[in-house]
Amino acid sequence: MLCDRFNRVISYLRISVTDRCNFRCVYCMPAHGIELTPRDEVLSFEEIARIVRVGSTLGLTKVRLTGGEPTVRRDLPQLVAMLRATPGIAEIAMTTNAARLDELAQPLKDAGLNRVNISLDTLQSERAARLSRRDTLTKVLCGIDAAIAAGLTPLKFNAVVMRGQNDDELCDLLAFAHEKGGEMRFIEYMPMGTVGFDERDRLVTTVQMREALSQRFDLVPAQSLDPHDASRAWVCRRSGARAGFISSMSDHFCETCNRMRLTAQGGLRPCLHQDAEVDVRTLLRADGDDAAIAKAFLEAAGLKWAGHHMSDFIPLYSLKEMVSIGG
Ligand code: 5AD
Ligand code: SF4
Repeated sequence: MLCDRFNRVISYLRISVTDRCNFRCVYCMPAHGIELTPRDEVLSFEEIARIVRVGSTLGLTKVRLTGGEPTVRRDLPQLVAMLRATPGIAEIAMTTNAARLDELAQPLKDAGLNRVNISLDTLQSERAARLSRRDTLTKVLCGIDAAIAAGLTPLKFNAVVMRGQNDDELCDLLAFAHEKGGEMRFIEYMPMGTVGFDERDRLVTTVQMREALSQRFDLVPAQSLDPHDASRAWVCRRSGARAGFISSMSDHFCETCNRMRLTAQGGLRPCLHQDAEVDVRTLLRADGDDAAIAKAFLEAAGLKWAGHHMSDFIPLYSLKEMVSIGG
């Protein structure tokens, strides 16, 4: 079993399949983009599947595909099918900006993808263009409907809430998600990489978000289905609309963390915010056996720290841009 120094059991792997993205979200990437990893330094599908297979023998049961934007990786359904064939992996999810789901939702579902979380920060097209630095909203809305049609449900929507950017839209976002049969999750803005310094004014706390939502929604705490969920669930008594709050800054959830990350370049990363990685790619390419990969998992679990200190806005956390780790 994969267990860390704080007795947390690791059963969930977030897999970044690429560091490329078709958007340039302001909270995730610098305007000029990032230096992209040469393709031969990115893990192949076979390599990812092998790492997951070994992980599953250590107790991994859930994986999530992230990026960059996972859908810009060519032939992604193939990878899903390979992961689906791995014994022990019960759930395969993906976090996506939805812009390519119009074409990909059904092939991904057919390959065995269970669900998607869709990034949706605004329902106003000029804002979407400003926040993602691309004209994106029309494609995203088509992608959402394609995800529903393909049955990649229950849908969850993610909004990073930023003061003066989209914090006047929280009620509209929740109403939209409910209408689409999904849950709206509101994420506290985290100062990540070089894009986040001196941005404390941007933070809207969960408490402030719920205050804004109370104008239209009568929210009460709800039972979360997953005890390890980073998101705390609330439900509107009148409408049944479900809202989730990811309080990474004001009230973090490190104590119940069950996750680890695999970067596109093949680093096993114990925490989003911790700049420590165990290089599995080199191992694999030097003909390492499964026991060596298992050892890398155990090493990465052993490195996992108790939790981050981001709430202080002190740059003790990762200097890597979010886009190259996967949100
Ligand atoms: N703060 C909070 N959440 C972020 N994400 C990306 N960057 C940040 C940030 N700075 C989240 C987005 C996206 C997911 C991939 O990561 O919500 O949905
Ligand atoms: Fe791309 Fe997602 Fe980052 Fe936006 S938040 S730039 S969609 S990876």
